[in-house]
Amino acid sequence: MKIVGIPGSLRRGSFNRALLEAARERAPDGVELEVASIAGIPLYDADREQADGVPEPVTRLKDLIADADAILLASPEYNASLPGVMKNAVDWCTRPPKDIGRVWGGKPVGLMGATPGRGGTRFAQAAWLPVLHALGAVPWGGKHLYVAGAAGAFDPQGKLVDEAVDALLREYLSAFSEFVTQVRGVRS
Ligand code: FNR
Repeated sequence: MKIVGIPGSLRRGSFNRALLEAARERAPDGVELEVASIAGIPLYDADREQADGVPEPVTRLKDLIADADAILLASPEYNASLPGVMKNAVDWCTRPPKDIGRVWGGKPVGLMGATPGRGGTRFAQAAWLPVLHALGAVPWGGKHLYVAGAAGAFDPQGKLVDEAVDALLREYLSAFSEFVTQVRGVRS
């Protein structure tokens, strides 16, 4: 099973990228988790798209998503919602619209997020749900992973050091991959 993890931050020391790296290291047997990047994706501009088409980093990300069995979004929370830089990347990955079905259609999506704050990105994760529904993806709500107090959960190198989060992450990945197997079974 191939899962693509998308961190919604460009920050070098991003807690959300660190969370996906921790997930990659803890992927259950038979699950390969590739951590993608939204770096290099310009602000969406329809004039630019008309003139130059879809930029290369977007095509690469679209293909990664299309080839994966499932998606894991690690979303920061900005002002009680999802970050614009991440939404911009997802919006680009819906261009041209004829590709939406190939890239997103029927694809299981797990949501997680990390914040130094206390809310654990609950609002951001909720804000993604209508977007994912609109794309025909299948957001998974079987478990939730809200990493609050991220500054203490990761060491300065970005390694996950919080044992409780470690255990929750393992449970999350195991249940999500079971769900993906079920969805794929139904499809075949
Ligand atoms: C934030 N942050 C934040 N955190 C939170 O839990 N709830 C929020 O509403 C907000 N709002 C917010 C707005 C803006 C404009 C910024 C820049 C930041 C803090 C945010 O969680 C923190 O910067 C994280 O470290 C971002 O994720 P990465 O970059 O570490 O992955």
